[in-house]
Formats: sequence, C-alpha cells, structure tokens
Amino acid sequence: MSTYNENKCPVKKLTTRDLKNWKKGASRQQISALTCYDFQTAQLLNETNLDIILVGDSLGNVILGYDHTISVGLCEMEIFGKAVRRGAPDKFLIMDMPFGTYATFNQGVENCLRLFQATRAEAVKLEGAFPHVLEIISRITDSGVPVMGHIGLIPQSVHALGGHYQHGKDEASRERLIREAQALEKAGVFAIVLECIEKTVAAEITSMLSIPTIGIGAGRMVDGQILVINDLLKMGPNRPPKFCQPVADFYSLKKEAITKYIETLTLPPTPTTNYEIGHIHS
Ligand code: KIV
Repeated sequence: MSTYNENKCPVKKLTTRDLKNWKKGASRQQISALTCYDFQTAQLLNETNLDIILVGDSLGNVILGYDHTISVGLCEMEIFGKAVRRGAPDKFLIMDMPFGTYATFNQGVENCLRLFQATRAEAVKLEGAFPHVLEIISRITDSGVPVMGHIGLIPQSVHALGGHYQHGKDEASRERLIREAQALEKAGVFAIVLECIEKTVAAEITSMLSIPTIGIGAGRMVDGQILVINDLLKMGPNRPPKFCQPVADFYSLKKEAITKYIETLTLPPTPTTNYEIGHIHS
C-alpha cells in the first residue's frame, strides 16, 4: 500500500523501482491494482491507497458492451485513458494496448509510444510473449516506456487459444508459462499479470522472477492482485467470474434507488383554463 499524509494525499507516486524493491523483500507488500475507465471513479481511486490503476481493454466488455476485447480500438483507449488520468493524477497508471495495435514490430512501437504519450500514463501493458511482442517490449523499454507483461489467459487471443480456461494444468502448459515469464523478464518488463493460471504454477513463476507478478484468478502466492473494478463492485447484471468475490452489489443498489426515485415523481398540477395553456405556450 502507498503512504498517505494527514490530508489523505499520496506522499509520492509509485514507481517501477518501488515495485521491484517491494519484491526484493525489505519493505515487502502485496500490490493492489484495479481497472478503471472513467473520470469520477478515477477521482475516487485517487483518494484511496490503491497502488496501480489499469485502463484495461476490458472496457470493451464492461463499458462498451462488446462481446470481447478484440473490438476495442486505440482511439477508445485514448479517450478513456485521458479521462482516468485527469481523475487520478497521483496514481501509477497503466494503459492496455488493444488488439491489433501491436501485430507488427513497427506498428507496435509507434502505437505504444503514442498511447503512452497521449494519456501521460506511467506504463503500457501488452498481452503474450510472442517473438515480435518481446522485440517491441525491448525497444520501447529502451525508449523509456515501462511495460507490464500478461500471460496465461490472454483475452485478445481467445479465439486462437480456443476459449476461456485455466492455464498451467498440464506439464506442457506449465513449461510454456515459465518460458514466457522468463522471456518477458529478459525483454525488460517491470511486472507480469498472471491471468487464470493454476495456483502452484503461478507460485512457481513468482518465486523464479525478480520482478513482481500480479495475479487474477491465479491464487494467493503472487506479489499482487488485480481485478476488474466492475466485477469487484458488481456494477452489472451478470455474475462476476468465479475468482472474484464482489465487495458490494452496486447493480442492485442503483436499480433500487432509481426505482424509488421514479415512484416519487408526481404529475404536475393540471391547468384549469385554456387561457392558462395559451399563456404558458406563448
Ligand atoms: O483488460 C483488463 O482488464 C486486464 C486485466 C484483467 C488484467 O487485462
């Protein structure tokens, strides 16, 4: 957790160096991270001791109503990223690179620099450890852009992977995840998201790396946890994923409040003469 002064203001914005030092042990702490997509929620998070905000491409699902994250574009990420930056100027902000914006080396480098600069984020996140992604990561970290990696269930590759399922359940999958995590660390990422990974494999990867791991559906033996804020607060009608235990039910609360408000509405008094109607309209 970050440190706060008596005015509840963060004493200092988190840095990638802090995160790496936490992992080293002396001041070890669990990293807390949540997604965020809008100005007012960002303002709220800015007043908490949350460590990291991710403007995830999950905004495609929970904000824009797409079926998957594949439909999210760079312009959308830029709009939401700028809104979150305005609301949470004191937080370590990470921008997800959306599908198709880093499919080739040149395009990837250019788009990562563009989104990083336009949103004034502290870092970007790329999914997967494919050879060209590793090359993009090396180049942009050399150019001063911190990168967070993401392995396991990588939603932008959901069709290539053949659906949503837990990774690391067999030996081939375990070995692949370990290879990917090590390759990402070598390429220069400052942290890695482990999504839907068997918990013993996530623990093994965490103990192997010198950079922090942030889990989502990957058990507790990781260096931090990240969740989609809309799942944590149950903002929508659907059941959140199994690994997320909501801390509130804002969908029901809001529905109830709006229903009550509608019930308080009464018809305006009926005008008594035609003259009054004419007078109002003139
Ligand atoms: O887009 C997103 O919200 C994410 C998190 C689930 C890690 O990538």
